[in-house]
Amino acid sequence: MPTNTPPLSDDTTVHTLIIDTDPGADDVIALLLAMASPERLKIQALTTVAGNVPLAKTSRNARLAREWGQRPDIPVYGGAQRPLLRTPIYAADIHGSEGITGVQVHEPAQPLAEGHAVDYLIDTLRAAPAQSVTLAMLGPQTNLALALAQAPDIVRGLRELVLMAGAHFNGGNITPTAEFNVFADPHAAEIVLGSGVPITMLPLDLTHKVLATPERIARLRGLGNQAGRIVADILDAYVRHDMQYYGLPGGPVHDATVVGYLLQPSLFGGRWVNVAIDSREGLGFGQTVVDWYGGLKKPANVRWIAEGDAQGFFDLMTQRISRLF
Ligand code: RIB
Ligand code: CA
Repeated sequence: MPTNTPPLSDDTTVHTLIIDTDPGADDVIALLLAMASPERLKIQALTTVAGNVPLAKTSRNARLAREWGQRPDIPVYGGAQRPLLRTPIYAADIHGSEGITGVQVHEPAQPLAEGHAVDYLIDTLRAAPAQSVTLAMLGPQTNLALALAQAPDIVRGLRELVLMAGAHFNGGNITPTAEFNVFADPHAAEIVLGSGVPITMLPLDLTHKVLATPERIARLRGLGNQAGRIVADILDAYVRHDMQYYGLPGGPVHDATVVGYLLQPSLFGGRWVNVAIDSREGLGFGQTVVDWYGGLKKPANVRWIAEGDAQGFFDLMTQRISRLF
């Protein structure tokens, strides 16, 4: 049944954090925001997955974000090259052929860590104290689904999952019903939603209300540091498509809201509900079916975030990005 049970964390929680990501313009901004908050987010590793662009580029881009964030202490592990079952899809039309809009890319000096991301997740979560690790998921959930299939016992080490995924009231962005991260691997999403780990989802219902307007982007550029310029350059190019397509006054920075939630959950509002994934071929493929009023009388498995303080989020992000170089 829907409940308003409070979030698992609060504005002071220090997270032992792994970020699973498919950079991706908004992923890069999320990663910079996370790297700018070391006192609250103890980033253990980045794990990459194919999504916005193929794995080689998402992995290169995660290493680039690490370089821009000047955090060589954070290992990057490459993960799944393709979804569990469906044919791979990408979003280079939105994120550019290199996977990051608005900036020049290069091959970062620091390489990937040895080993596959799925093995890293299994080994790390098995060794972790019970319910100690927060996993933020910014792309298709393929890596965690593979890890859960191989080692179901790893749920013990997880505190909570915080996902940018799904859409209900807003409608989809890759089809009228589906959001990209779920559409790109709905079978993985089914496994993750069935894991029993507490899950918070930040769907398009939320991200389309927290918009990077020209004024908010100008404020980031006005910080005068490299990170502010990089974020502003990425956003200037990234938001254009969504502003035009949806007729919005600004563009969503989807993945960055996940990090904003980890840092200041009091900025967001949601409800524990039952969420299921439609993985049948057809118009509903990849849809997150959200029982907002509890009519199905099924147990709630997701805290579905539908509201957020947009100005509060951008104030937070701007202040944190100002800390970077
Ligand atoms: O639908 C938005 C999501 O899909 C974001 O995570 C974006 O990076 C893409 O992966
Ligand atoms: Ca992403």
